[in-house]
Amino acid sequence: MPPWNYSNQNVLVVGGTSGINRGIAEAFAAAGARVAVASRQQEKVDHTVAALKELTTDVMGFCADVREPQALNSGVQSVHQAWGELDVVISGAAGNFPALATQMSANAFKSVVDIDLLGSFHVAQAAYPVLRKPGASLIHISAPQAHLAMIGQAHVCAAKAGVDMLTRTLALEWADQGIRVNGVLPGPIDDTEGMRRLAPLPEHRQAVIQSVPVGRLGAPADIARACLFLASEQAAFITGAVLPVDGGWSLGGAATIGAVLGESLKSSSDS
Ligand code: NAP
Ligand code: COA
Repeated sequence: MPPWNYSNQNVLVVGGTSGINRGIAEAFAAAGARVAVASRQQEKVDHTVAALKELTTDVMGFCADVREPQALNSGVQSVHQAWGELDVVISGAAGNFPALATQMSANAFKSVVDIDLLGSFHVAQAAYPVLRKPGASLIHISAPQAHLAMIGQAHVCAAKAGVDMLTRTLALEWADQGIRVNGVLPGPIDDTEGMRRLAPLPEHRQAVIQSVPVGRLGAPADIARACLFLASEQAAFITGAVLPVDGGWSLGGAATIGAVLGESLKSSSDS
């Protein structure tokens, strides 16, 4: 029996078909929730739905790009029609690639801002009408780049800083409806697309491990446990918070990844 009981609760994880967000979807499913996942690729949605059915009875999935509000709205409406009001929405769709600001096109910068920041806004707008009032919880997945400038991450830094301010603003605007809005800020999470893109070589991974004060990379389950807590009654007085779940990485060690990226991007641009 898991320590959290989310039976009879409706949970939507946007971007829930791989990596950290899929780990979050699995944790809510293991806690008994009805879980819906959404992302762009039908195959990933299908695989995730099949895997979640091993953990809980009611599972749904739909395809939507968070940059396309109409598709997102109709997917959210389909979950609402099937199960009723949503208790928990996790908004974690994101894109990333390392590139120096002078070497990315305006469209490259825009694509990440559109997915991470505008996409989070679209998710919030699509979800608001069908969130349980009072009682629902919206959780954004942030990143260390929201607070820490990193070479090769101008697009992500700008976008995730915006996501954190969106968290705080929505927390204020929705507090009187009884909806809490928080963020979880993961550290470096092992075996994820984000880590593969920012620290692709074994020596990069080793440098990152050494920079985490607790001496290890995180796992999706570390982030999932924080979400289970933040969405629960135990966190009823917490709103507008962005919780680092990073083994102390954001206290300083996260600068290592900027240095690793800076070295490799600048040496490839010089050659
Ligand atoms: P990931 O496996 O690539 O997960 C991204 C998810 O979002 C996938 O399900 C992807 O599925 C979906 N997605 C991407 N673009 C989308 C779009 N335009 N519309 C809808 N869905 C979209 O990445 P991850 O590394 O686990 O990262 C997950 C979250 O954690 C992100 O918010 C990231 O910024 C944050 N984070 C990660 C780390 C880390 O160490 N990995 C650290 C800090 C923060 P489709 O391809 O099917 O769309
Ligand atoms: N360096 C510089 N520019 C890049 C790039 C890179 N590594 N990768 C993509 N771009 C540019 C493209 O050239 C394009 O710009 P252009 O039109 O001026 O040529 C722009 O970014 C958009 O690329 P496109 O491939 O059309 O975007 P998309 O919408 O299909 O995909 C991405 C979005 C680029 C963010 C893609 O990497 C993605 O889907 N990521 C999701 C998974 C992920 O990033 N996970 C980690 C989360 S932390």
